[in-house]
Amino acid sequence: MADRRTIQVSRDGSSKRKKESLWSPPVVTNQNEEESYIHSSAAPLSDPEEVRHIQRVILAFRRYLNVSLARMDRRKRDFLCLSDELQSWVPTYIQNLEQGKEAIRKNDKLLRYILSTVENFESFRAEEQHGSNLTDSDKAVRYTLECYESDIEKVRSVLLHIMRDWSKLGEPEREECYQPLINATRKEFERYCNSAEVDPASFRVLVPGAGLGRLAWELAREGFQVQGNDFTYYSLFSSNYILNYIMEDTQVEGMEFYPFIHQTTNVVDSADILSPVYIPDVDTRQLPSFSNFSMVAGDFVEVYGCKHQAEQWDCVVTCFFMDTAHNILEYINVIKTILKPGGAWLNLGPLLYHYADTEDEPSIEISLEELRRVIRMFFDIEFEEMRTCSYTRNPRSMLELRYRCSFFVAHKKRATNLSNSGVADG
Ligand SMILES: C[S@@+](CC[C@H](N)C(=O)[O-])C[C@H]1O[C@@H](n2cnc3c(N)ncnc32)[C@H](O)[C@@H]1O
Repeated sequence: MADRRTIQVSRDGSSKRKKESLWSPPVVTNQNEEESYIHSSAAPLSDPEEVRHIQRVILAFRRYLNVSLARMDRRKRDFLCLSDELQSWVPTYIQNLEQGKEAIRKNDKLLRYILSTVENFESFRAEEQHGSNLTDSDKAVRYTLECYESDIEKVRSVLLHIMRDWSKLGEPEREECYQPLINATRKEFERYCNSAEVDPASFRVLVPGAGLGRLAWELAREGFQVQGNDFTYYSLFSSNYILNYIMEDTQVEGMEFYPFIHQTTNVVDSADILSPVYIPDVDTRQLPSFSNFSMVAGDFVEVYGCKHQAEQWDCVVTCFFMDTAHNILEYINVIKTILKPGGAWLNLGPLLYHYADTEDEPSIEISLEELRRVIRMFFDIEFEEMRTCSYTRNPRSMLELRYRCSFFVAHKKRATNLSNSGVADG
């Protein structure tokens, strides 16, 4: 094992602005160098809209503390409006709120660590501190830069995702979702080797919608050449910190945070949300010295839907990803195009179409049966089963949400005609 390993978050995608993130041309990385400490913003960001977007994400990370503390204060005020007698019935209420505020401060500490590794943060802070030196156009940008409750909600959600991917508490959930995909990828590698002695690093695995990066990291730990892709800066900043830097900042027991502190409904015991969770549960530097692992920022269709990606991948692994599409058929089109003939697509997830309830966004919502029919046009489905999985679950909550996920392994038909694929020039 190399004792210091880092993962590059590189930019990719096109300059066209999509829903979330948008960095430009591919800087796909080779992680074979020892001690390759990477800084995510190697080249200046050129798209002002993208810069604004990133600044808004940064602002949300920074405002998390005050907005969340204010919410706690509001709850405190509501309680203090009660008569003394009613207050005396729940003597622990105020004390719990104060402890909750302390937990939020701890979360803020983690978020500050994450932000400290985001290069753009520096320029943003400088802009805030030296507002009087700003040009008119800078001021215009600053004036319109705002973040909303929905942005803070994304920060809170990232805390849950960090728990899912990098804490001991998330382990049962990872066993349900990631382990079947890891096992299936191992089998695909065996099939790829066909009894010959083959370097696992030649087996190219893509993980679109990689989230906080654990599944991609686990596959890299197997020795495969792995690339994760995501377009949400909330996730990218956080995974960059955990994969590259956290080991320098944590004590032996890990870094403390409180992912459930904002879940104030369906609580059995206040201790359930006030107990610390620690990350990471593994030394994130422990990848084989020969491993080749990168994370690429950008919209999946924009990054991989270009000609030079055609037939480049041996295996595509999607976990809770397919239903994030505006158009799931477009995702399938890209997957079938980028896989080598005979290459494997491993999927696990529900069909909770993310844009189904968004009035002003397109959304194609097909059933699993319709999805199967489309897949069979281009793939041989080797195996399929339904698996019950949870997602960022609070194991002690009175509310339990379980998905019946479709888990399948499919191989791209060798005769697929790419000339009709509709893949854009890249
Ligand atoms: C439901 S989460 C699943 C994350 C991870 N696979 C897991 O199982 O924890 C979906 C992820 O896909 C990412 N995503 C959604 N649409 C995307 C797109 N068009 N391109 C790249 N990533 C996308 C989101 O940012 C999010 O991290």
